[in-house]
Amino acid sequence: MTLPDTFDAIEWTASGLRLLDQRRLPHTEEYLLLTDAASVAQAIRDLVVRGAPAIGITAAYAVVLSAQQHWQHAPEKWRPGVAADIAVLAAARPTAVNLVWALKRMQETLAGVMADPVPALLEQARRIHAADVEANRRMGALGADLIKKGDSVLTYCNTGTLATGGYGTALGVVRSAWAAGKLANVFAGETRPWLQGARLTAWELVRDDIPVTLITDNAAALLMQRGKVQWVITGADRVAANGDVINKIGTYQLAVACRHHGVKMMVVAPMSTLDMAMPDGQQVPIEERPADEILQLAGQPLAATGAGAWNPVFDVTPAALVDFLVTEAGVVASPDRDSLLALGDGQPGTSGASLKYH
Ligand code: MRU
Repeated sequence: MTLPDTFDAIEWTASGLRLLDQRRLPHTEEYLLLTDAASVAQAIRDLVVRGAPAIGITAAYAVVLSAQQHWQHAPEKWRPGVAADIAVLAAARPTAVNLVWALKRMQETLAGVMADPVPALLEQARRIHAADVEANRRMGALGADLIKKGDSVLTYCNTGTLATGGYGTALGVVRSAWAAGKLANVFAGETRPWLQGARLTAWELVRDDIPVTLITDNAAALLMQRGKVQWVITGADRVAANGDVINKIGTYQLAVACRHHGVKMMVVAPMSTLDMAMPDGQQVPIEERPADEILQLAGQPLAATGAGAWNPVFDVTPAALVDFLVTEAGVVASPDRDSLLALGDGQPGTSGASLKYH
């Protein structure tokens, strides 16, 4: 059972790429219309759009914008211009593998075109977008199957329609489990410092009429100690070949607390997030963002003047702390290299063994 999406965060239009500006949510719903790849790369850097699958899809559409521009201005030498734009897009954010995954798909399409590249690229970007939504709905069903009626969940960061092509990964599981009448309570961690949980996840759940209770990130262990949740459900920015999960900073400490309290840790990520070329999580580049994201709040000084801050925005959860990895190709319990290899060749839509928990 699934719930319908009620908005488009990423929309291709005849005049350009329309992005819902996530910096301004939840109080202002404003769309930006971007018409060149450099502006899209900047929007990805600035978190206008964020979330691993969403930045991949956005970058794919940016390649279409790039091809439109370079083909129009210099049809005899458009390729180097598009290649340069792809390099800028690939460097926009370092941790989520979906960005380079989507750009590689676009490069493969580019390699096969001889004349006007725009129609084939647009078709490919639309395919990547649609496949992501389909994967999310499938993962929603698979993840919800693991949950017992009456369970409660804590989710983290934002993994919903805003972070994907639509429906969401971890939030897709929450939506499916809610629609199936299984969930007693949904808790969301506010997700310092950018507050993806408080601003974005809460906004999405409220729109869906799913009651949500926000907690500060530091309340998670108490929530577990009091037996108020049976599951922590998160997304991933990258899953390494050994099953290590790279996700929003704070995911690792949630996984540690889960294991201590016997709470199950479910990670929900499409096959496009699997990086089988990365042996383990310790080698994944962890993005560090400006100290002001911690020292200020909404542009206002927060910390004592003169204090410094360290702002890594992702962390590495060892595979041993992950109880279930849910992909569109199947569910893996206690992921490791062999079980990930068995899932498929890293392409979305591959089929693998599905495993049920209850
Ligand atoms: O910095 P962000 O907001 O892009 O980080 C997003 C996350 O960490 C999400 O959990 C992850 O991308 C999965 S989204 C389906």
